[in-house]
Amino acid sequence: MEIEIVGASKSMQKDIKVAIAGVGNCASALVQGVEYYRDRHGVALEGIMRHSIGGYKCSDVEFVAAFDIDRRKVGRPLEEAIFAKPNCTRIFQSALPVSNVVVQAGPVLDGVAEHMADYPDDAAFRSADLEPTDVAAALRASGAEVLVCYMPVGSERAVKHYAQACLDARVAMINCVPVFLASDHTWAQKFRDAGVPIIGDDIKSQVGATIVHRALARLFADRGVGLDRTYQLNTGGNTDFLNMLERSRLKSKKISKTESVQSQLDERLDARNIHIGPSDYVPWQQDNKICFIRMEGRGFGDAPIELEMRLSVEDSPNSAGVVIDAIRCVKLALERGEAGPLVAPSAYYMKSPPRQFRDSVALEACNAFIDGRNFDLPAEAALDANVIVRPGRT
Ligand SMILES: NC(=O)c1ccc[n+]([C@@H]2O[C@H](COP(=O)([O-])OP(=O)(O)OC[C@H]3O[C@@H](n4cnc5c(N)ncnc54)[C@H](O)[C@@H]3O)[C@@H](O)[C@H]2O)c1
Repeated sequence: MEIEIVGASKSMQKDIKVAIAGVGNCASALVQGVEYYRDRHGVALEGIMRHSIGGYKCSDVEFVAAFDIDRRKVGRPLEEAIFAKPNCTRIFQSALPVSNVVVQAGPVLDGVAEHMADYPDDAAFRSADLEPTDVAAALRASGAEVLVCYMPVGSERAVKHYAQACLDARVAMINCVPVFLASDHTWAQKFRDAGVPIIGDDIKSQVGATIVHRALARLFADRGVGLDRTYQLNTGGNTDFLNMLERSRLKSKKISKTESVQSQLDERLDARNIHIGPSDYVPWQQDNKICFIRMEGRGFGDAPIELEMRLSVEDSPNSAGVVIDAIRCVKLALERGEAGPLVAPSAYYMKSPPRQFRDSVALEACNAFIDGRNFDLPAEAALDANVIVRPGRT
């Protein structure tokens, strides 16, 4: 009897209490994944990067709060809301435990692009038109330790509203969106001052367009091939791609994706010779994302080299597979009393971290962070060639 009680309290301590802002496709894949990996062992664990991080398994994640604005999601239990339209990601875990987490109404702000109204209900957001909840108060009441932010691209005000709520409630944040917080000096300091960690910005998928393009860029450079021109074109049929048809919402996404690749080059490409971004919305693709990469360069004796690559992925599980690790890194930081941007995990998991490293270095640094080892990060000066230049940012 005594042993059972000890075991129960130990496993309760293992929970990482997570809130979600934006119950879209990525949230769906994340919630499904926590249950999918619950009792898996050995080869059945394929698909996740790390079974255990500091002793925390995927199944140690517990969802305690969720916010959305869509009338088909607000007011419903999280385990039902993740399957509501317009979500369209693959269902790989339909049986989910009953939770008492009911999706609360967040403030809409700039979360819903106007053109969504021109598309069918099944494909677009539909606001619930409810009085928004006080997010900071709801976070406090839920006991959340970390909020995962999954706002649509271009939701500058909404993302910052959730960030401020995290600061007020002293809740950590994982910012999956290309709105610059962890990589912005002012916001980074706010998180330091509030005593809570943040991993950001803009999640880098497990094997997605960004990390493949970065790896290819390094391959060319490491093998002495000069890169003259490159593009990365992406198509998909989920609400993320529909939202991004509004080009005015895309500015930070283009910067985030382009700089993520530029940061891997020994010499930056002229802006005219690098084109990276979401390219079109193809409804029937649903949550399947297709990426085309082309690279043109010169090898030995100025001989031309051309590379064409096509990558096809399920978009949302691809990012959830990274968020599941970021959540556990945040938990370690909370236990260690670390605050502000987590440099190494951000560099490995995010497209726009406070500091960019080569992915091999970022991996080593992230592993050292997880193990609690010191790791000498490359000096800032050594990165000068790769320093991100974002127009209009300090
Ligand atoms: N591989 C990936 O899927 C990937 C990779 C990198 C970044 N991201 C980014 O992650 C974010 C989430 O992606 P997704 O595919 O889940 O998007 P999605 O469109 O499926 O979900 C967005 C959700 O946010 C909700 N929402 C809109 N405004 C809101 C507000 N003010 N408050 C609360 N909820 C609001 C919508 O109703 C919807 O449920 C996007 O910004 C996307 O670009 C995704």
